[in-house]
Formats: sequence, C-alpha cells, structure tokens
Amino acid sequence: MSSSDNKPERTLADLGVTRPDQVASLFAEVRAQFDAKASEDFIEILWKEWRDQWLGRKSGFLSRITDNWLKPAAPDLKRTVGACLNDLRAHVEAKIEERRLSIERNEEEWSLARERVDLSLPGVIRPVGSHHLIRQVFQEIEDIFVSIGFSVVEGPEIETLYYNFEALNIPEFHPVRDDMDTFYLELPKGALTPLLLRTHTSPMQIRTMEKQKPPVRVIVPGKVYRRDNPDATHSFIFHQVEGLAVDADITFCDFTGTIEYFVKQFFGSGVKTRFRPSYFPFTEPSVEFDVSCPFCGGTGTAASGGTCSKCKGAAWIELFGAGMVDPAVYGFVNYDARKVSGFAFGIGIDRLAMLKYGIDDIQAFFQNDVRFLRQFP
Ligand code: DAH
Repeated sequence: MSSSDNKPERTLADLGVTRPDQVASLFAEVRAQFDAKASEDFIEILWKEWRDQWLGRKSGFLSRITDNWLKPAAPDLKRTVGACLNDLRAHVEAKIEERRLSIERNEEEWSLARERVDLSLPGVIRPVGSHHLIRQVFQEIEDIFVSIGFSVVEGPEIETLYYNFEALNIPEFHPVRDDMDTFYLELPKGALTPLLLRTHTSPMQIRTMEKQKPPVRVIVPGKVYRRDNPDATHSFIFHQVEGLAVDADITFCDFTGTIEYFVKQFFGSGVKTRFRPSYFPFTEPSVEFDVSCPFCGGTGTAASGGTCSKCKGAAWIELFGAGMVDPAVYGFVNYDARKVSGFAFGIGIDRLAMLKYGIDDIQAFFQNDVRFLRQFP
C-alpha cells in the first residue's frame, strides 16, 4: 500500500463507507494492493519489511484496520467488516508465509548451484616435484649405513674455529688450514669467537663425541663451504657425508671391512677397493680409498676399445679420505685414548654422484635447471 494511500489511518465514517457493499469493495481494494506487492521479487531483508508493514503489531496495516475500521464501525457494519478483515488476514498471512518458503528455497538453490562441482571440467594438473639428485644420493648412503647400525645426525653449517679446526687436531698455522681457509662471517666488534661456514662435516665428530660416550656410530650428511673458484669440478658449496665409529675394540679390519661393504653396496658387488697412505690431522694412520673403475670393470679400457673416460685409463678411481681416529682427538672430547679406538671417513657426495650418474659438470647440481633435474625423478 503506498504511503499516500493512508486509508487504514482513517475511520470508515471518514472514508464515507456506510454500506456493506462499500465495505467489501474497500477490502477488495486493500487486497489488490497487497497482491500487487506479493508477486514482486523479494530478497529476505525486503520480505521482512513487507511482513512488518502488514502484520506488525502496532502499526501494521491489519492492526490499523482493526483499530480504525473494525472497532469504531457502526453496529450494522461490524459483522461485515469483521468477516472481511478475517478473510484478508488469512489471505495476507498465507501469502507472506508462502513467499518466505519460496525465498528460502531460492537461497538453497543458489547455494547449491554455487557449490556444485562440475566433474566434467578438466582438472588442475599440479606437477609433482622430486628429490634433488644430491638428496637421493644422501638417502642411498644413509640407507646403506643405517642398515649396519649407524645413525644419521646433522650439525650447524656455521661453526667455530674450535670445532672446525682445533678439536680436530688442526692448530692455528697448521698448513692444512690453507686448503680450507674460507668464509668467515663478519661479526659485530667484540664477538667472542670468529665464526665460519664449515669447511667439512668433520666438526660433527667432535660435537657427537662431546655429547655421547662410546659406542658411537654416526654418519653426518650436509653442506660444506670452501673458497673455490667454480668450474666443472669445483664449487664453493658442496656436500659431504662424514662417518665416525668409536668403540672399545674397533680395529683397522673393522674399518676397511665397513668401507668395502659400503663401496660394494653403492657401486655394485663387482668392484674392488684399495687404500693408499694419506694424511689428515685427525686420523692416524690416514688413507685414501679407491674403487676399481665401475665403468670399465677396472681395466682402464672402455667397452668401445679406447681409454675409459671415467678413470682416464687408470683403472682406479679415487673416492674419499678416511683413517683411524687420531688419539689426540680423543683428548678434546674426554675419551680415554687408551681404552677406545675408531675410524672416520669423509665422502664428497657431489663427486660420487657425478661418477655414478655420469654427470660432467658439478655446477649442474646448483643451477637447478629443470631439464637436468627431471632426468633424476
Ligand atoms: N674432512 C676431510 C675433508 O674435508 C675429509 C675427511 C678425511 C674426513 C678423512 C674424515 C677423514 O673423517 O677421516 O677434506
């Protein structure tokens, strides 16, 4: 009902309605106005307004009609007004409820439509990544050593001079520091100790023995850093797996047997190992392990007849450094050098992975070109 049309605010007498037929047509008019609105499109909020406009207790049209038309009606009109009003109320209530239901239904339909999944649409393909080859080789090595009782530990990449050098029996001014002289951190003035990016994973030998009494059997995979100029075989960041076994009665035989087991597991049972004397400050004696070239069967000659490109005809490939732990090292970790013995090794992972998978440039590991990575799913 429009606001200008304020008939319910006036009495029947005011409106000049005195006969029952006039009453009936007045109600018909009101009803027509109601119906006109009832067929409009509603959203919930407008529906509420509409409902209150008609059914509101105080100022709703039906209350106004009761107050202004029914109550003061002349006695001969009262019946007709009462009957018409009842009809109208029943009609209004029914229609308003009907609209409420339909609004509710619509909303349900909309939300169902919104949530509907179209199974015929093409899916979103999310490419699945894979482990980097270096991580895969770490994993291979870890599996081999874990299977013979070693556990895997990791250590900090930022080290103190004490762990990286001194406790490994590399005092200041020892010439092997030259090889490793490397990345020192710029620290605020007054810092307690210089810090550097570790040059090898060996510091974890010390950290492990400080924490743990023998028996110790750990391997330490990780990144190491040296001031090397990048080329096909050098990178200032590379990877090692350190190994350490210390117990009451570990012999040189346990040492070579363990290494041989590892090398055969890694390269295949057909390979042979050999060791040559070497030098590391933290092992005594120290050795360098070689493996018979797995690519030419240790002959130095490629299948095609020429020189084997992997071992350059040498038949052997230098693998990694190792040795029996130098008794001086035990002094740094409060182990009794008379009661314990053990061995240690440090494997360069990048070189090993290059050898095994025929990669000729170490830089490929760090460039992360997906065309390279995809070859090792
Ligand atoms: N830390 C040595 C390096 O980075 C590798 C190494 C050699 C580790 C002999 C060892 C070892 O534990 O016994 O060059």
